[in-house]
Amino acid sequence: MPPLRIGIIGAQFAAHLHLQNYQRLRGSKVEIQAVASRTKESAEAFANRFGIPHFFDDYRRLLDRGDIDAVDICVPSDLHHEFVILAARAGKHVICEKPLTGYFGKDRPEEAVGLTVDRRTMFREALANCEAVAAAIRENKVQFCYAENWVYAPPVAKLKNLIKVSNGTVMDIRGEESHSGSHAAYSRTWKGAGGGALLRLGAHPVSAVLHLKAYEGCLRGGKGIRLKSVTAEVGQHTRMDSFRQEPRKWMVSAWEDVEDWATMIMNFADGSQAVVTASDGVLGGVRNTMTVYLSNAVVQVNINPSDTVMAYAPAPHIFGDEYIAEKLETKAGWNFASPDEDWVRGYPQELADFADCILTGKEPISGLDLAIDTVKAIYAGYLSAEQGMRVEIDKL
Ligand SMILES: NC(=O)c1ccc[n+]([C@@H]2O[C@H](COP(=O)([O-])OP(=O)(O)OC[C@H]3O[C@@H](n4cnc5c(N)ncnc54)[C@H](O)[C@@H]3O)[C@@H](O)[C@H]2O)c1
Repeated sequence: MPPLRIGIIGAQFAAHLHLQNYQRLRGSKVEIQAVASRTKESAEAFANRFGIPHFFDDYRRLLDRGDIDAVDICVPSDLHHEFVILAARAGKHVICEKPLTGYFGKDRPEEAVGLTVDRRTMFREALANCEAVAAAIRENKVQFCYAENWVYAPPVAKLKNLIKVSNGTVMDIRGEESHSGSHAAYSRTWKGAGGGALLRLGAHPVSAVLHLKAYEGCLRGGKGIRLKSVTAEVGQHTRMDSFRQEPRKWMVSAWEDVEDWATMIMNFADGSQAVVTASDGVLGGVRNTMTVYLSNAVVQVNINPSDTVMAYAPAPHIFGDEYIAEKLETKAGWNFASPDEDWVRGYPQELADFADCILTGKEPISGLDLAIDTVKAIYAGYLSAEQGMRVEIDKL
């Protein structure tokens, strides 16, 4: 079978992550044909670094190429749905980073939309974007792969096996993604990111929870277990007076109209619940964790940090340039040194599944339904936080 020919749009953080994890597939399952980014310089630098034959500063030139089967979208979140639709119309299969879409207030150029636009309007428009994507995928008969690495992470795969063999009832799930703040400029505003911590970080555990409840439903004889309602709270902890007065900031504090903390309770149709927390105010490296309480078992998943390798140094320079873990403030003291962070987070497994599925016409483990359900859950959460009440998903 000839390899899948991929064009990548975006040449920064997420694009690097993808290229690092395509390496093992290149030459057998995939070929990376071209990269496009906002500037020619960054596209060229990326192409040179990863040995990609073509580079552009206009993504439309990449979409026009006949030697590209699939487009991998690694651009800021406000461009996702538009680029997915254009790629589908160009007849390309699509791999898209999280979140699929959201509300970005494109028609309100002067406003800090996170402060001015009501969440019901946001929910409606985010859902309209989802529907437009679904229509483009359907009408152009291309495949959609949602780059949600949590559902591919080996610790989550093990969790699924344990749920299956225990045959217990999943009653309570607690999931968290937190760290000390995104590096990316687009994340500071609602217009760039479509929300704050709940969408940007919470998308991972929310998707994982939805995936697990769908999986459990299938184990029980067919249908996934539906999300019925959500209750959420959001906060801006870096706006606290005492924090503002501190001379040294150890975490990102440049958030404009987006929250830097959120917790959402997800209520499922079978009576079970999940609690998801997402924070940009957590020091000590990235936290990606999930605990599942079953009727007959408990499973704790530590994607990060994990204590496979614990390393101590009395001063930060001792470990030199050796990578320890993402977003660690210091290499001094005891740390959790991740031996293969990409693997444990599921990036190579995710891209391998996408390549296989597009080549063979199978549905990926993480596809369009999960992408849309995640947007729906999170924007219902924003509405709940605004109104101070539980929101029934089917009544929206
Ligand atoms: N799954 C994960 O773990 C993970 C991690 C990080 C980021 N992400 C997601 O990846 C996406 C990108 O994040 P990032 O951190 O790489 O952002 P970034 O700002 O670091 O990079 C964005 C890239 O998009 C390019 N770009 C912007 N506008 C463009 C345009 N009009 N045409 C062509 N290229 C354009 C830029 O040139 C840049 O190369 C986000 O949606 C984010 O949510 C996912």
